[in-house]
Order: sequence, then structure tokens, then C-alpha cells
Amino acid sequence: MADLKLSETRDLTRIERIGAHSHIRGLGLDSALEPRAVSEGMVGQTSARKAAGIILQMIKEGRIAGRAVLIAGQPGTGKTAIAMGMAKSLGLETPFAMISASEIFSLEMSKTEALMQSFRKAIAVRIKEETEVIEGEVVEIQIDRPAVAGAALKTGKLTMKTTEMEGVYDLGAKMIESLGKEKVQSGDVIAIDKPSGKVTKLGRSFSRSRDYDAIGPQVRFVQCPGGELQKRKEIVHCVTLHEIDVINSRTQGFLALFTGDTGEIRAEVREQIDTKVAEWREEGKAEIVPGVLFIDEVHMLDIECFSFLNRALENEMAPILAVATNRGITTIRGTNYKSPHGIPIDLLDRLLIITTQPYTKDDIHKILDIRCQEEDVEIAEEAKALLTHIGVETSLRYAIHLITAAALACQKRKGKVVENEDITRVYNLFLDVKRSTQYLMEYQEQYMFSEASIVDGDEGGTSAKLP
Ligand SMILES: Nc1ncnc2c1ncn2[C@@H]1O[C@H](COP(=O)(O)OP(=O)(O)OP(=O)(O)O)[C@@H](O)[C@H]1O
Ligand SMILES: [Mg+2]
Repeated sequence: MADLKLSETRDLTRIERIGAHSHIRGLGLDSALEPRAVSEGMVGQTSARKAAGIILQMIKEGRIAGRAVLIAGQPGTGKTAIAMGMAKSLGLETPFAMISASEIFSLEMSKTEALMQSFRKAIAVRIKEETEVIEGEVVEIQIDRPAVAGAALKTGKLTMKTTEMEGVYDLGAKMIESLGKEKVQSGDVIAIDKPSGKVTKLGRSFSRSRDYDAIGPQVRFVQCPGGELQKRKEIVHCVTLHEIDVINSRTQGFLALFTGDTGEIRAEVREQIDTKVAEWREEGKAEIVPGVLFIDEVHMLDIECFSFLNRALENEMAPILAVATNRGITTIRGTNYKSPHGIPIDLLDRLLIITTQPYTKDDIHKILDIRCQEEDVEIAEEAKALLTHIGVETSLRYAIHLITAAALACQKRKGKVVENEDITRVYNLFLDVKRSTQYLMEYQEQYMFSEASIVDGDEGGTSAKLP
């Protein structure tokens, strides 16, 4: 049931797009967890980054379950950015599940089920397995095609070698097919999983590196393996509990993992899996790797979800929970009560709170600098200063958004470097929140459903006015 290898899906080439956080490559901490001023795309916000680093350390040690942190701060102060940094700093094997609180409200499954699934996405199981593999360099593949097409199945011979020995294996139709699928040719170093017959291409042998002069950049050269051709090898699979749940929930089947259409998973299935995993742990076959569940915009959860979280955190398999919000004292969703950050006091009490501070002019300058590099925009020093000024006066996000727009304006006038005039041009084209609000104030009578009359109180009641 744990045949699914995560490494395979990760090897797919990603389509490179520049997102809001694509410049962030980690938390930018040194080995003593001290934040470097500018590192891995992160700027300033030192105490929050340091605190996040300590949480990371806790996750890496993996011994403490169910700790929770809240990242609180004004909009645009880098809360989501810090969470992304944490995700990037964790190894590939530690799961990091990221959801926005509003994602759990759906008609397909209950809120608590959606939360449960997110929790289980954040816990991985490392399953160790010993199998026999045949590993070596392919000397020759010889396939006998039947004389009459379709008369008999294809057969063939595969000759493989290590630095010490050479062996010949008979091939059946199935093996020929999987060798063909992997486009194996002589000179490749391959590994064949003996029980399943799965072929993995490890690379091309160094000794053949001079055979061809046109080689794509993706070709990897490796040494021809030494020792025996057949070896016992320990293989580690890393799957999340959620994946195991889905694969074993009979109504869905594993394809649901790709469509996301997993439906509700019955409690009995989960119970059985938990017992099985506990058994494996005792036998030393499996290890639990608790990861992180990050819930952004946590004020969107309602009171039922909050009490579910309270309880779920007490489970010994619970991952580290990180939540973020930019709300102040506000109503808890689903009640009439107010609470700090819109989170009930009993849950708040279980959270370690990290706060983010508004950025200084210097920080904004550096972040804009990094973003210009990320978006491949050349910008004059003077224009950058102007952009920084705009960032201070309006918001960091607005200034970031102007970068690409200004670059396009610059392209339009066939310039190479973004200058002050480009910034001014887009600044006048696109309003920031402040100017937009001001505009609305001035012209509100001409909009539909304007509340002007109510605010002014002169025309009590008739709030909808059309020009
Ligand atoms: N310290 C930082 N270093 C580098 N980039 C940052 C930093 N802080 C924020 N940014 C960038 O600034 C932008 C806004 O930050 P982010 O989205 O993290 O804010 P937020 O605190 O999550 O805001 P909100 O409360 O509105 O969700 C993002 O593009 C982010 O990558
Ligand atoms: Mg955010």
C-alpha cells in the first residue's frame, strides 16, 4: 500500500512563474539561528525570523508534538513570507501543508473533516523496505522480434556489468516494455527493482561520455557501479498519512490524490491505519516525521473549527501548527463575541505568538531591490529611491506591483533601464488604496449604493442613488 514514491512526482519540471513569494528561499538564518540582515531573499523582520527558526529547530528534532504558533501583524509585514521561508528551509521529506482557512468551507465535506485531512497531510511516515536490486551499466540490449507480427511475445537478453562482473538476464515482454519506456540504451547505468521489475535510470556511464558530442544538459554522468550486480538495498518511501488514508479508502482509490476529490474518509479507515503504522514503528520498519500545518488567514475559521484545533493539538501524532492573521480585536466567526485576532482565548492560550513589525524605509528599499532582481527588471538608483518613497507612503505591496508595470512602460518607450518617468507614469495610471478611497469620497454620489447620505445624515434612508 505504500508503493507511492514522492520523489518521482517531484522530478517533474516546474513551469517557472514569478509569484508574490518566489524570491524567498529560506529564513536566512545562520547555524546559530541568528538572522542575517539580507539572506535567502529575506530582509529585516529579525525577531520574527529568529523565532520562526527556533520553531523550525523544534520541527527538525521532531520530538515535540502539537505545539502551535501564531504569526500576527499588520497586512503586508511578511507573515506569509515567513511561512514560505519555513517551508523552504525544511528538507524535502518533512511535510509542510499550507492552507488558507477559507479553503475548508465546502459542501463536499465537513469543516472538521477538511481540517483533519490537512492535519494528516502534515504528518509523514518513512517506511523502510529491503529489496533486491540489480544495479549496473547496460552493455547490450538484444531484443528478438518474432518473425510474424503479433505471433508470439517479444523476448530478449540484457547484458549488464559492474566494474567487477558481467551478467546476462533473460527479458520478458513486460521488462522489454519498461526498458523501452525509460529509453534505456547501452551505456546507461540502471537499477532494476527485482520484485516489481521497475526500471530506474540512474544516469549515463562516464566511460561513454565521449561517444556522442551533442548531449542535452539534463544528462547526468555517473560512475559504473562496483561489486555484485545483485544487491540488497534499503529503500525508503516517504508518504503522508493523508496519502495512505486515500489509497486505502476503498470508495476513492489513489487517483483521488490527483483530482483532490477525496471525499470524507471514514474514521475506521484512519483507525486501522494508525494501528498499522504504530505496529510498523514498533518493528522498526517505519518512522513518523511530523511536519508543519500552516493555516493562513486563520480568523476565517469559525468557533467549531477552533475547538476542533484545541483537541487535535493534544494528539501525540499532531504536527506543529502555525497560523497567521492580520486582524486585531474582532468577532470570532460564528459567535457574537469579540476576541484578539478573532481567535478564542482558550486556543490563544495554547499558541506561542510571534509578531511582525512594519518595515523601515531601509528594509523596503532592500525588499524592492530583491524583487527587481527576481522580476528581471533593471532600474536606475534614482527610480528605486522614488519607488521606496512610494512604498513608505502607500504600502510595500503596491510598490512591488509597480515594478513590472514600470518595466512595461519602460519597454514601451524603448528604454532599457526603468527611470523616474516610468514610475511616475504607472503611479498615475494605477491608484493605491489611499488615493482610490479619496477618489471615492469625492465622487461617491455618482456610484451605486453609496452610503454618503447616511454618513452625512441629511437625506436619511435613501442610500441608493443613481446619477
Ligand atoms: N522580510 C521580507 N523579506 C523579503 N520579502 C518580504 C519580506 N516581508 C514581506 N515580503 C514580501 O512582501 C510582500 C507582502 O508580504 P506578505 O504577503 O508575506 O504579507 P502578509 O503579512 O502575509 O500580509 P497579509 O496580512 O495581508 O496576508 C510579499 O511579496 C512578500 O514576499
Ligand atoms: Mg498573508
